[in-house]
This record gives sequence, structure tokens and C-alpha cells, in this order.
Amino acid sequence: MSEILLDVSHLEVRYGDLIGVSDVSLSVKRGSVVALLGSNGAGKTTTLNAIAGLIPTSGGRVTFDGADMTSRPAFEIVRKGLALSPEGWRLFVQQSVESNLLLGATTVASSSKRRELLDKVYGIFPKLAERRLQQAGTMSGGERQMLAVGRALMSDPVLLLLDEPSLGLAPAIIESMYETLKRLHGLGLTLLLAEQAVDLALEISDEAVVLQVGRNAMSGPSHQLAHDPNVQKIYLGH
Ligand SMILES: Nc1ncnc2c1ncn2[C@@H]1O[C@H](COP(=O)(O)OP(=O)(O)OP(=O)(O)O)[C@@H](O)[C@H]1O
Ligand SMILES: [Mg+2]
Repeated sequence: MSEILLDVSHLEVRYGDLIGVSDVSLSVKRGSVVALLGSNGAGKTTTLNAIAGLIPTSGGRVTFDGADMTSRPAFEIVRKGLALSPEGWRLFVQQSVESNLLLGATTVASSSKRRELLDKVYGIFPKLAERRLQQAGTMSGGERQMLAVGRALMSDPVLLLLDEPSLGLAPAIIESMYETLKRLHGLGLTLLLAEQAVDLALEISDEAVVLQVGRNAMSGPSHQLAHDPNVQKIYLGH
């Protein structure tokens, strides 16, 4: 089993004539936490969505668990063990919490396995169990974030991609979300985390990659980047 679980090499994504990312490379070791940092529009979401197969790539290569998954259909990537908790949650707001969770398990064929995963997610997020019959659209921001992460967990991933799990949440809620992410990592999940909350992301991660206008600007061990003044400068777009 290779030590590298995910390898992204010279990724390029275009939105018509516009460039989403022009040259992004990163690798994620099995069992590690990697932070993908960068200011507004740096290319974090584009990178995660391209890795997850939600948008097509125009250049570069994505290798996941030893297989070339570049521009493979999303369901195939999910089935192989990669799940994304997307920016803005993308929930079905008219549907119940439990229906939303089950939509994350469409690649899981066995109904007893789906039940098992549901119980596991409810164990991780007891709030979701309390609200299982409630419409997703009536939940608070923190609960919706839990639901987005919970839905991603329903495919039983080995690698979880998280797109700004702290966005728009109150500090106490962010803290509890990060405690949960640490717990998930403790349970054996590998994490790739896009964040604007640079301090939090560097604290939880082993390695970090900083993007600037669609390409790598810096990368290295998070504890080193945490003390590097250039990170803050890039982040602030100076
Ligand atoms: N659907 C789209 N159509 C056209 N351009 C887009 C689209 N989505 C993103 N872009 C552009 O691609 C670039 C990268 O954006 P992206 O959303 O990936 O950045 P980000 O780092 O996730 O930013 P944020 O922190 O605001 O979420 C930006 O220039 C953005 O304007
Ligand atoms: Mg984004």
C-alpha cells in the first residue's frame, strides 16, 4: 500500500475562457491531515471539486489510491473512497436530515451497511439524530455543516475533502466542528481541508499548501508555515 493516498499534479481547470486553477500540485499521505489554504478566489474550491470529479479538468493528473482518477465520474471516485463535504453544503433543504444523509450513501449497495453508517454518523453528530426527521432547510448553519460532513461520511470514505467547514459559523461552533474533525482523523480518516481560517487549519494539519491565483505559492509542514510571515502576506493577497 502506497504511503501517498492522493496525488494531484499540475492540475488545470477552466471555466470556459476563464482559468479556475492553472497549476496546482499537492499530495496527501495516508492517515494525514493536509490544509489547502488561500484567499478568496485562490482556487481551493475548484481544486477540491476537480479532485472529486464534479467539474472537468483541462490539464494535469489526479491519482487516488494508486489509480488515475483524472476526470473520472464523481460516483466512481466516491465508490473508491473519496468524499467531499462541499462549500455551501449543497443540501436538499426540503428533505429531512435523514434523507439528506442517505443521499450520501447511494454508492453503498447493502441496506444493512447503510443503516450501520447512519448509526455511526448519528454517533458522531448526536444533534443530527435528534433532528433526523426535521427538514434540512430549517437547521442552523452549524447543523447544516454537520449534515454536509455527515452526508460525506455516509459513503464510508477513506479520504474526506472538506471545503471551508468553518465558513459563516460562530466561533464556538467552529471549535466544536474542529474537535469533531480531530476525532474523525483519530478514527483513521485522512483529511484534505480547504480553509480561509488559516490558524485553525494550520493547527489541525500536518502539511499545508497555500494557493495564490490558481497556483501553488507555498507548501510545507504546517508547524513551519504557522510561523512563516509570508503565509499571512499571501493570504491577505499582498
Ligand atoms: N463557476 C465559475 N465560473 C467561472 N469562474 C469561476 C467559477 N467558479 C470559480 N471561478 C473562478 O475560479 C477562480 C478560483 O475560484 P474558487 O472558487 O476555486 O476559489 P476559492 O479559493 O475556493 O475561493 P473562496 O475562498 O472564495 O471560496 C476564481 O477566479 C473564480 O472567480
Ligand atoms: Mg471556495
